Amino acid sequence: MSEQIENIVVLDFGSQYSQLIARRIRECRVYSRILPFSASAAEIAALKPRGVVLSGGPMSVYAPGAPQCDPEIFNLGVPVLGICYGLQLMIHTLGGVVSPGTRREYGKTRLRVRESSGLFAGVKKETTVWMSHGDKVTKLPPIPLDVLADSDNTEYGAVKFRGRELYGIQFHPEVVHSEEGRTIIGNFCGHICKCTGNWTMASFIEQAVKDIRAKVGDEQVILGLSGGVDSSVAAALIDRAIGDRLTCIFVNNGLLRKNEEKRVQDLFGRNFKMKLVYVDASERFLARLSGVAEPERKRHIIGNEFVKVFDEAAAGIPHATFLAQGTTYPDVIESIPIDGNPAAMIKSHHNVGGLPKEMKFKLLEPLSRLFKDEVREVGRQLGLPEDVVMRQPFPGPGLAVRHPGAVTKETLDVLRDADEIVVDEIKKAGLYHKIWQTFAVFVPVRTVGVMGDERTYDYVIAIRAVDSSDGMTADWVPLPYDLLGRMSSRIINEVRGVNRVVYDITQKPPGTIEWE
Ligand code: XMP
Repeated sequence: MSEQIENIVVLDFGSQYSQLIARRIRECRVYSRILPFSASAAEIAALKPRGVVLSGGPMSVYAPGAPQCDPEIFNLGVPVLGICYGLQLMIHTLGGVVSPGTRREYGKTRLRVRESSGLFAGVKKETTVWMSHGDKVTKLPPIPLDVLADSDNTEYGAVKFRGRELYGIQFHPEVVHSEEGRTIIGNFCGHICKCTGNWTMASFIEQAVKDIRAKVGDEQVILGLSGGVDSSVAAALIDRAIGDRLTCIFVNNGLLRKNEEKRVQDLFGRNFKMKLVYVDASERFLARLSGVAEPERKRHIIGNEFVKVFDEAAAGIPHATFLAQGTTYPDVIESIPIDGNPAAMIKSHHNVGGLPKEMKFKLLEPLSRLFKDEVREVGRQLGLPEDVVMRQPFPGPGLAVRHPGAVTKETLDVLRDADEIVVDEIKKAGLYHKIWQTFAVFVPVRTVGVMGDERTYDYVIAIRAVDSSDGMTADWVPLPYDLLGRMSSRIINEVRGVNRVVYDITQKPPGTIEWE
C-alpha cells in the first residue's frame, strides 16, 4: 500500500457496525482498516493513520472481561473518535465512571447540537441520530471536556476533551437512521483528521497493478473463474497487470444457470481475450450426484469434485506458481468472538466451491482490501459490463442448493428455464439491482392441475426474492402481485413439466436463503 494513501484505523470492540464504520470512512475517500480492539498503540502507529475510531460493542465497559484498548492510543498524537462503547471506554480509560442507566435509549433520538463546527460542521442544530445504549457517563474524567451535543436522555451526546483531539459520540453516525451521520464522519475525516480524500478506485487500480507485477515477477498465475463479481474483477485486474501470464479456469459443474458457460466464455475469452480454460465437467458432477438427496452430502461431493477437476486443469498449466482468488475484505477481517456480537457468527458452509489451503500455490488476492461496492467500482473501471459487476450472489454449489433431493439433468433443465424467466422478469421490472437475490427453486413434488381439457401431474416451482446486506439475515421481498403473476404464467406456459408456482415468504432466520 502506497505510503501516500491516507488511512484511518477502526478498532473493533465487537460491534455489528464496525464494517459499516470502515465503509463510511471509505465513502469519504479515506482508506480505513479494521483492527481487533487488542491492537497495541505501537502496531497502530506503524500504520501511520490520520485518525483512530473506537467502534461500539455489545458489552458494558464496567463488565468483567469487557474489551479494553491500549491507553497509549490516546497519546499517539492523532485524533480519536469513540462511538457509543468507544465513547464510554474513552471516559472509563481516562479516569471517569460509566454506570448502568435507568432507561435504555434505543432507536431514533433528537440530538441538540451546541456548536455547528468541527465534528458538527454543517449539521443542523437539531438532528435525528440512532442510539443504542443502556449505560451512562456518571462521573467525568479529570481532563476537562466540552459537551458538543446532548439529547433528552443523554447529557453527553457528543464530547471533546479540551486541548486534545479526542472526541466521543454516544450515537451511531454510521447507520442510515442518523440523518446527518455521513456529514459527521466526513467532518471527522476532513476537518479533524485533515484527510484530503485520495483513496479512489483509480488510485487503487494503479497501485494494485504495480503490486501484482512486483509480486508475480515473470511467473504464471491461474485463477478459478466462477462468473461471479469477485473472481471476474480479480481476473480483469490481474489481466491488466500481467496479460497472458494469467490463465483462468472455468469449470462447468452442470449446476450453472442457463447459458452461463457461454456468457463467461464470450466475455473473458472473446472480449477480454484472456487465456481461458473451459472444463465441461457437468457429466462427471451429475454422475457423482446421481441418487444423492441428503443436502450435506451433495455439498460435500460438489466441493470435493471441484477440487479434483480444478487440480487436473491446473496440472495442464505446468509453470503456474500463483493461484489468484477474489477474496475480499470482509473475508479477511479477523472476527472478534465477543458475547452477543452477531457479527462473530461464522458462515461455515460458504467456502464450498473454494480450494483447500494445502494447494501448492502461492496466493494472489488483489481484492483483499476492498469492500464489495469497491470491488464493483474497480470492475467498472476495468471495463466489465454492468451485468457482471452488479450480478446477484450465486452459491458455489450452484443450482444443487435450489433443488432439494437428488438432481438430474432433466430436472435441472426445468429449474434453469424457470430461473431464467424469474431473472428476466425481475430485470424488466427494474428490480434486479435493488434486491439481494432473486431466483427459482425446483420443488420435487408433483401436484395435479388442468391445462386445456387435460389433467396434468407436474412439478412445483417456488420463487424466492430476498433482501439482505450480508446474507446473514434476510427478509423476503413483497414483489408486486402483477410481477409475480407474470412470472407464474410465463413459467407455466413456457416451462414443460411445471404446473404450479408458489412464492416463498420465509425470513432468515428461521429459514435460510437457499433451500439447502
Ligand atoms: P443461506 O442459504 O445460508 O445463504 O441463507 C446465505 C448466502 O450465502 C450463499 N450461499 C453460498 N455461497 N457457497 C457459496 O459460495 C455455498 O455453499 C453457499 N450456500 C449459500 C447464498 O446464496 C446466500 O447469498
